[in-house]
Amino acid sequence: MGVSQIRKRIIVIVGARPNFMKVAPVIEAMKRLAPDEFDVLLVHTGQHYDANMSDVFFRDLEMPQPDVFLGAGSGTHAEQTARVMIAMEALLAKEPSDLILVPGDVNSTLATTIVAAKAGRTIGHIESGLRSFDRSMPEEINRIVTDEFSRYCFVTEPSGLENLSQEGIATDRVFYVGNTMIDSLFMYVDRARARFPGLAEQLGIEADSYALVTLHRPSNVDDPASLTTFVELFEAMRSFATRIVFPIHPRTRKMLAEYGLMSRIQTNGQLVLIDPVGYLDFVALQAHARLVLTDSGGVQEETTALGVPCITLRPNTERPVTIEVGTNELVGLDPAQIMSYVEKAFAGKWKKASVPDLWDGHASERIVSVLRETL
Ligand code: UD1
Ligand code: UDP
Repeated sequence: MGVSQIRKRIIVIVGARPNFMKVAPVIEAMKRLAPDEFDVLLVHTGQHYDANMSDVFFRDLEMPQPDVFLGAGSGTHAEQTARVMIAMEALLAKEPSDLILVPGDVNSTLATTIVAAKAGRTIGHIESGLRSFDRSMPEEINRIVTDEFSRYCFVTEPSGLENLSQEGIATDRVFYVGNTMIDSLFMYVDRARARFPGLAEQLGIEADSYALVTLHRPSNVDDPASLTTFVELFEAMRSFATRIVFPIHPRTRKMLAEYGLMSRIQTNGQLVLIDPVGYLDFVALQAHARLVLTDSGGVQEETTALGVPCITLRPNTERPVTIEVGTNELVGLDPAQIMSYVEKAFAGKWKKASVPDLWDGHASERIVSVLRETL
């Protein structure tokens, strides 16, 4: 169902933490470059709902408040996906669109795509084409389905072009625009850096001397053996990092408690255990870290754009450009291997790296150009 007036109606979907920084600059670019051409309806599925997993990003990224909240919340994959689907179907019965824009690879992305495709809507996928080739990873299934039904596949890195081509997706659906998450990063990095002195004092850290850690992949944190390996790794890192700042994702906090590991990490005096922080604070923490250790998708990209050494605590990545040209090293889960890279980072012996093509702060503008020309 399209709308006939000149202004194009774009429904933009957000749901989980990594969605906000991918869509904020696209909404901003639509308003700035074509204020009379687009009407945006911003829909929040409610997949993430804690203030520090959702609200803070609206403030930090200067986003408009959502027009609609679907309140899906947490649950099993089927429960969460189904709740978004049911609410989305009811929403689309009332709301026409010329385009539905979905970011990334979370369950809200998948649920919206399935409902929108069956409603005959045009879909655009921000961050299309990424593949880990690991179908035990829920996000991989979400990516494949979303790309299959997207009229606009907005690609962030060359591997995405190759992957979509391998899957038979016609080239007229594929647009290599660059990385909108990096648009947000470049837009806010100075503001973030300005917050560092206050943050450093509060956390008792010094620039360039601490490690920053994030962990939340189910394969790492839902499994007691691998979660224990990370707890041991933090203990082994004592001789290097003066501090290890660890903003704990709610999934990880839950699992640390469930496996009785919380009190053990609390006795590691080197660890600075904090709740997840807002976008500006997290960018500040990345920008001044000596080293970042992570299983996050987005953090692999942001560290590459910032030129900060990154160890990816996974056996694979859907973002190979961060390894090929960026600062990322895919190290996996072997503690001895991880320690050898930690040692390199603290000895200042990291590989030379650069920022990938089209990660230049203008990806959102390219998306808006494509839409102005073709929608
Ligand atoms: C989701 C995404 C993942 C993304 C991550 C970013 C899927 C399949 N996974 O994983 O791709 O990398 O977000 O952070 O979509 N919880 C809270 N408060 C919240 C949100 C979650 O306490 O605001 C807790 C709940 O116990 C919940 C658990 O975290 O069960 C997991 O949340 P969920 O949205 O299912 O998956 P994530 O692990 O956050
Ligand atoms: N991030 C944040 N606060 C935190 C941890 C991460 O603002 O405490 C930001 C980070 O800068 C990046 C995004 O969240 O922009 C990455 O999201 P996440 O790691 O949750 O998901 P993934 O990228 O793995 O899907």
